Amino acid sequence: MDFKGDRVCALVSMFFVVTSANVEEVLGVVGEPVLLCCFLSKLALPINSAKTRIMWQDREDKVLHVINKGQEVYDYQDPYYKNRTTFDSDHLASGNLSLLLNPVNILDNHMRTTVILIRNHRSEKVCTLSLNVAARYQKPTVNLTDSTVECNTQGGFPEGQVTWMTNNTPLDPGEADTKTSQDPETRTFNISSRVNGTGIQNLTCSIHNPTLNETQTTTISIRPITPCFVYCRCLA
Ligand SMILES: *[C@@H]1O[C@H](CO)[C@@H](O)[C@H](O)[C@H]1NC(C)=O
Ligand SMILES: *[C@@H]1O[C@H](CO)[C@@H](O)[C@H](O)[C@H]1NC(C)=O
Ligand SMILES: *[C@@H]1O[C@H](CO)[C@@H](O)[C@H](O)[C@H]1NC(C)=O
Ligand SMILES: *[C@@H]1O[C@H](CO)[C@@H](O)[C@H](O)[C@H]1NC(C)=O
Ligand SMILES: *[C@@H]1O[C@H](CO)[C@@H](O)[C@H](O)[C@H]1NC(C)=O
Ligand SMILES: *[C@@H]1O[C@H](CO)[C@@H](O)[C@H](O)[C@H]1NC(C)=O
Ligand SMILES: *[C@@H]1O[C@H](CO)[C@@H](O)[C@H](O)[C@H]1NC(C)=O
Repeated sequence: MDFKGDRVCALVSMFFVVTSANVEEVLGVVGEPVLLCCFLSKLALPINSAKTRIMWQDREDKVLHVINKGQEVYDYQDPYYKNRTTFDSDHLASGNLSLLLNPVNILDNHMRTTVILIRNHRSEKVCTLSLNVAARYQKPTVNLTDSTVECNTQGGFPEGQVTWMTNNTPLDPGEADTKTSQDPETRTFNISSRVNGTGIQNLTCSIHNPTLNETQTTTISIRPITPCFVYCRCLA
């Protein structure tokens, strides 16, 4: 896997927002890895890994991962997190307690992870992280039937916003008939939007994912309408 931990950690930290009492928000994308970044302060170092236990737990006290005396212990791991967590013990000495969760799935949305360090018979909450999950919308397909232009996209999360533009001018949202449906199982959204393309030459449909701040765009050229004078002459 061509996963560059350093880059992702830096990337993730761009999305860190301190909400309340040191809860850090992390953005994860469905199907991709996310690093739940956590670092011990220099004052808490050094770590004697032979006398230390580290636990990652969610809000319901389900265990994501356990390191005991430098070894992974899977006995307590909740099945929901099975095969999805990786900890790199090489980074332990420097106080890097970041846990890789791979792949992120949509039910992880709003998951809160607490990192607990237990040593010298004392336990200490080191980090609390809250995971926001998003899924990318597919690049929309745009179809023309008669004079109706339809734009479709699937598989995004959370609900996206549709915008139509013609020659860089947005159409009034009232002109579009937009339907959104959510899959009860995957919880992702499909979006379908239609406009009347009569008299329009170029149309661009954009789908914006608010969490990812990412916009997917498709433009089509509609056959120019036959100039009026051809008919006008005939009618004359
Ligand atoms: C912390 O550890 C993770 C792997 O667990 C690694 O990807 C990341 O680069 C490390 N960060 C630093 C600053 O060492
Ligand atoms: C975890 O991985 C093992 C080996 O690859 C596999 O046998 C097992 O079914 C996986 N478990 C889950 C819950 O995905
Ligand atoms: C839209 O057009 C594409 C090809 O241009 C086609 O694959 C797709 O099935 C069409 N979708 C609809 C809803 O007509
Ligand atoms: C979303 O679109 C996919 C692909 O076209 C389809 O399989 C799925 O049933 C749709 N889901 C909903 C809730 O409309
Ligand atoms: C589209 O607009 C044209 C004129 O603006 C109108 O004549 C036509 O009936 C409309 N088509 C639909 C499907 O609403
Ligand atoms: C429509 O798009 C085509 C190709 O992108 C461009 O050549 C043409 O000038 C556009 N027409 C208008 C009215 O913007
Ligand atoms: C979203 O992205 C646009 C351009 O890609 C940027 O100008 C804007 O500042 C971003 N907004 C947020 C809230 O990050």
